[in-house]
Amino acid sequence: MPQYISNIPVDCDVDFDTANIRGKTAIVTGGANGLGEAYVRSLIAAGATVCIGDLDTIKGRKLEAELTGVKFIECNTADWDNQVRLFQEAASFSPTEKISYVIANAGIHRPDEVFLYDGDDAVPKKPDLTTIDVNLIGVLYTAKLVSHYFIKQNGDKVSETQEDTCLVLIGSGAAFLDCPRAPQYCASKWAMRGILHSLRRTAFYYGSRLNIILPWYVKTNILSDEAFAHVSSVGVQFAEAKDAGECLLRILSDMDINGRSFFIAPRRWAARGFIDLGIEDYPEDSLLQEIQEDQVRSAPIDLGLFI
Ligand SMILES: NC(=O)c1ccc[n+]([C@@H]2O[C@H](COP(=O)([O-])OP(=O)(O)OC[C@H]3O[C@@H](n4cnc5c(N)ncnc54)[C@H](O)[C@@H]3O)[C@@H](O)[C@H]2O)c1
Repeated sequence: MPQYISNIPVDCDVDFDTANIRGKTAIVTGGANGLGEAYVRSLIAAGATVCIGDLDTIKGRKLEAELTGVKFIECNTADWDNQVRLFQEAASFSPTEKISYVIANAGIHRPDEVFLYDGDDAVPKKPDLTTIDVNLIGVLYTAKLVSHYFIKQNGDKVSETQEDTCLVLIGSGAAFLDCPRAPQYCASKWAMRGILHSLRRTAFYYGSRLNIILPWYVKTNILSDEAFAHVSSVGVQFAEAKDAGECLLRILSDMDINGRSFFIAPRRWAARGFIDLGIEDYPEDSLLQEIQEDQVRSAPIDLGLFI
């Protein structure tokens, strides 16, 4: 697993071989519906074993019954103990007792009370921050458990024999675009890129990779029918869930892909429905590059374990 290398956009318009995914075990949070279900189906088609951690017991059990190699584990990702159990049960279910891939997909979108005006005469109400609990705190719990399991499996030193492992975070167009009226959702999705920028240069020390999938609008249950109807009414095209599944396989199939973000896009923007936008580095800006290198060299080494 090479150290992080910037400025090399991934070609998403090529055929690829998923042979290395066969026999591996993945956890997909929020895998019972929508985009998560698409990741699950792609992983199963590539020969992986998959554990779904989701709140939706009806749909989760239905997928478990339909797809050989899937185990459903009821889990609220915003709850630490739930996630500890998810990882324990996934490791027990894994034919190798190892977890190779984790897709931190569980996420919600709610009307945002941070944006809401309570009225001239009102004492402003404390806003409901559940979106942060699920979309950010839940993912940080996942990231902590991922590094625990990956280090336990692979050790904490680089070695020739390390097995590939990969954490895939799920962002959104809201992770790099202006999205009015949704400060929590935007903050939580930009935060996925924050995690990427922190961990992509260090995770390789334990043989691990970290990438982000950024879906454009995909028709799922995340927004209301009215909200999706509005998207259509202004002439905006949707992306496809199955292209997100294909993008996941592209990332997992190539062990050199680390520290990159992939936009799931309508075909008019991306020939195969996903593209590396190359937005995580500053190849054209020598000043920003110099500042970034100084930042990386000077970052505090708090734990003394990894650089
Ligand atoms: N659909 C889109 O247009 C779109 C666009 C950009 C990003 N995304 C992101 O993709 C991810 C999946 O979204 P989707 O569109 O498939 O949504 P969805 O609502 O169709 O599915 C989300 C799944 O996550 C589960 N879930 C929600 N909260 C959970 C929790 N606390 N613990 C465990 N499971 C939980 C739900 O039960 C459901 O199965 C989210 O992170 C979302 O922000 C979606």
